[in-house]
Amino acid sequence: MAKTLQPARGTKDLLPRDNLLFRHIDQVAWTTAQRFGFSELIPPIFEFTEVFSRSLGETSDVVHKEMYTFQDKGGEWLTLRPEGTAGIIRAVVSNGLAQNLPLRLYYNGAMFRHERPQRGRYRQFHQIGAEVLGFESPWADVEALSLAAQILGGLGIMTSSSTPQPACQLEINTLGDRASRESYKAKLTEFLSDYKQELSADSQMRLEKNPLRILDTKDEKDKAILQKAPLMQTSISAESLEFFGKVQEGLTALGIPFVINDRLVRGLDYYTHTVFEFTTDQLGAQSAILAGGRYEGLMTAMGGKETPGVGWACGIERLALLLEERYVEPASEILAVIAADETCMPEAQKLAHLLRQSGKNVDQIFTGNMGKKFKRADKVQATYALIIGETEKQNQTVGVKNLKTGEQKSVPMADIVRGQGLS
Ligand code: HAM
Repeated sequence: MAKTLQPARGTKDLLPRDNLLFRHIDQVAWTTAQRFGFSELIPPIFEFTEVFSRSLGETSDVVHKEMYTFQDKGGEWLTLRPEGTAGIIRAVVSNGLAQNLPLRLYYNGAMFRHERPQRGRYRQFHQIGAEVLGFESPWADVEALSLAAQILGGLGIMTSSSTPQPACQLEINTLGDRASRESYKAKLTEFLSDYKQELSADSQMRLEKNPLRILDTKDEKDKAILQKAPLMQTSISAESLEFFGKVQEGLTALGIPFVINDRLVRGLDYYTHTVFEFTTDQLGAQSAILAGGRYEGLMTAMGGKETPGVGWACGIERLALLLEERYVEPASEILAVIAADETCMPEAQKLAHLLRQSGKNVDQIFTGNMGKKFKRADKVQATYALIIGETEKQNQTVGVKNLKTGEQKSVPMADIVRGQGLS
């Protein structure tokens, strides 16, 4: 088939099983978020390019290499959202919602990044996310992490009584306040400048613009150089360490296990203080399933008043890959409505219509002889076949066949419609 008639590289069709999982994930996440007092805000899928370039950092891979940016017919520069946080903050400012701080906002939707596709990494992917705005306190970080852990627990991939073997672990780090970050940046730049020629091309570029990102390089030679680099912890202010201590204290109090990863810096530039990732060893290179941290400066970048925030986003495709084999769809009762022949179709269709109206799941079987129709009823795992033949039509009854036991009886149609006469 012509290449242009296939899904574009890095995108995929969400087939019925995928959607079942996506819906389940969103339902668990949203129900849990509501218990924490979240409400839902969904910004548009595309925004003015500046919304992202101002906030995510000009040197972040996302802005620098991965955005789907285009000029529309009116000459405006627009970008398909590569993540949710920038749009949420823009929406809070544009709609005057910052009057009602603090805010707890939940979102769900498609994101777009021009990355090299592989398992768990796509060009169109979906995130659920949560942003808590307006709290200076480290307890907000703990709350954001508690929500994440409860969602992952609810999906059965964090430790809980029913899943003692977790599929993921929480890694945390602190980048310190802005002053700490700047002081560490200076130390790291000084150290790495001596190795400039030996660094990978990417890291050389970052050395100029955003040296912290070199810490999460994938290049082995860069990694060896970094072994000798000054540690970030040596530059973190006492206040920032105290803040981070409280986050750890909160997690311990909640019984959420974590490890400290002092190389965790995250790919977007807006973070200060706490950063975190829930990672798994079950998805190859794409190990982060849920990631985020504390940020400041985003609200001012969008023209609002300085307001701190903390939040995270979770890749739905990655969660779905983890859940694929574990998730069993809850059984729902299906009734198969079968017309003996074409002349009984209107009556059978009416029965299906009334049953659906009263909340029943009905598979209406149109084609084939009676043998084929019963096969189809078995295939959809119907519990009963409701048969309308000439006699049933005349007498306003239904032939009810229990598909497990094979027993068959005649029941007045009015009873069936009222939900009686099946057992
Ligand atoms: P992020 O780390 O860029 O953070 O993405 C969060 C999650 O989205 C990742 O951990 C991963 O599960 C998923 N993800 C990212 N890129 C892809 C991709 N190409 N294919 C499939 N899944 C992907 C953010 O987006 C921040 N906005 C998180 C945040 C919210 N920080 C504060 N608030």
